Amino acid sequence: MSRDADEGRLQAIKGMNDVLPPESAKWNYIERRARSLFEGHGYREIRIPILEYTSLFVRTIGEATDVVEKEMYTFLDRDKRSITLRPEGTASAVRAYLEHSVHVKEPVTRWYYSGPMFRHERPQKGRYRQFYQMGVEAFGVAEPTIDAEQIALLQTFFADLGITGLDVLVNSVGGPEDRPLYRAALLSYLEPRRASLCEDCQRRLVTNPLRVLDCKVEGCARAIQGAPSVLDHLGQGAREHFEGVTEALKELEVPFRVEPRLVRGLDYYTGTIFEVRAIASDLGAQNTLGGGGRYDSLVREMGGPSTPAIGFAFGMERLALTLPGEPETFDVAPEVFFASHGEAARLRCLKLAQKLRARGFRIELWHRTTSMKAQMKRADKLLARTVVVVGDEELADQHLVLRDMKSGEQRRIAEDELVPELKKILRG
Ligand code: HAM
Repeated sequence: MSRDADEGRLQAIKGMNDVLPPESAKWNYIERRARSLFEGHGYREIRIPILEYTSLFVRTIGEATDVVEKEMYTFLDRDKRSITLRPEGTASAVRAYLEHSVHVKEPVTRWYYSGPMFRHERPQKGRYRQFYQMGVEAFGVAEPTIDAEQIALLQTFFADLGITGLDVLVNSVGGPEDRPLYRAALLSYLEPRRASLCEDCQRRLVTNPLRVLDCKVEGCARAIQGAPSVLDHLGQGAREHFEGVTEALKELEVPFRVEPRLVRGLDYYTGTIFEVRAIASDLGAQNTLGGGGRYDSLVREMGGPSTPAIGFAFGMERLALTLPGEPETFDVAPEVFFASHGEAARLRCLKLAQKLRARGFRIELWHRTTSMKAQMKRADKLLARTVVVVGDEELADQHLVLRDMKSGEQRRIAEDELVPELKKILRG
């Protein structure tokens, strides 16, 4: 189909998905759990714009990264300014941190955020062009214990959700002072193997040789097998820091693996980097649920004071695909379903439902004129815990029928008995 025809069809843009119920219930569940865990670690929420000036991402993520080179949604706005749909959240967090001079107000800042990100990648299972992330960023702490705390947070979050087969990978890419040494060692290993590298990696030899370590193309994967380890090229500071991280992880009993080949796709990292993969999932190459690392130079590079920082983000889609349990089981069922016979009875139910909602009950009311049988079927489908039925007789003497859908027990009660009876059934 031609591009024009694509645009004419009533369909979402390729790689951008709707999340409908009951799937959205699974998402809500994940979000609730993440928020509670993040807040339990002292992170507070920030809301950041979806659009930023393009230069922000070029300066932070790095010109020679795939994200900036070929994946950003960039356009001129009506004022002819170059604008980009954010491909990730760290850049905006750093911008906000500096723009609001947060470093002057508090020595340590812990933020979390969630929302859609955009990367023009080739869509496949677990990889989309609009995807959602939740992430944390901590500014002002140089000590390795916070690295371990964040890695443990990410691992525990996934494990507590019931995800098995987690692979926690950690590495250190060293600080800016260590980089030239490793880069030179890697280049002298890769140069003689140039011919067996893919076109992209041949280019990376000039722009960003570390990225070759991450290439999935078979020839490249083979070529890097004997590549020197970054961990053998760390200066004393980076080495001691990394030892501190692994020691703290052992103390926390987090299962992890040191992987010297681990590299990340964004240029701002210094020192510790990490990823958590779901190796038992069927996500294939897209099995990295979340990742992050230190970016101790970025705040200074962006014009602020020297400020150590570390963070991570996880992808909602990948996590929802991996999380065990049918989406329906995450749905929040009504506590009371109101079924009525006749218009007057429906009006009565409308009022009663209003009163109950004000007291905190979760209610669904059936507004349509259908048979009682159809209404009960609907209540069943919604997994309603109880059903209140009002018919002509009940209407006449201010009574109603309350049915416990679990036990099947049904009683005719006076209206003013409803709240205590519901409490008994619902709240034990
Ligand atoms: P990232 O590794 O680019 O890191 O993305 C983090 C997570 O977002 C990935 O592990 C993956 O689950 C998800 N993700 C990335 N791209 C896609 C995609 N196209 N489709 C679906 N999911 C995707 C960052 O973005 C850094 N900002 C993390 C960070 C925070 N580092 C320090 N602070």
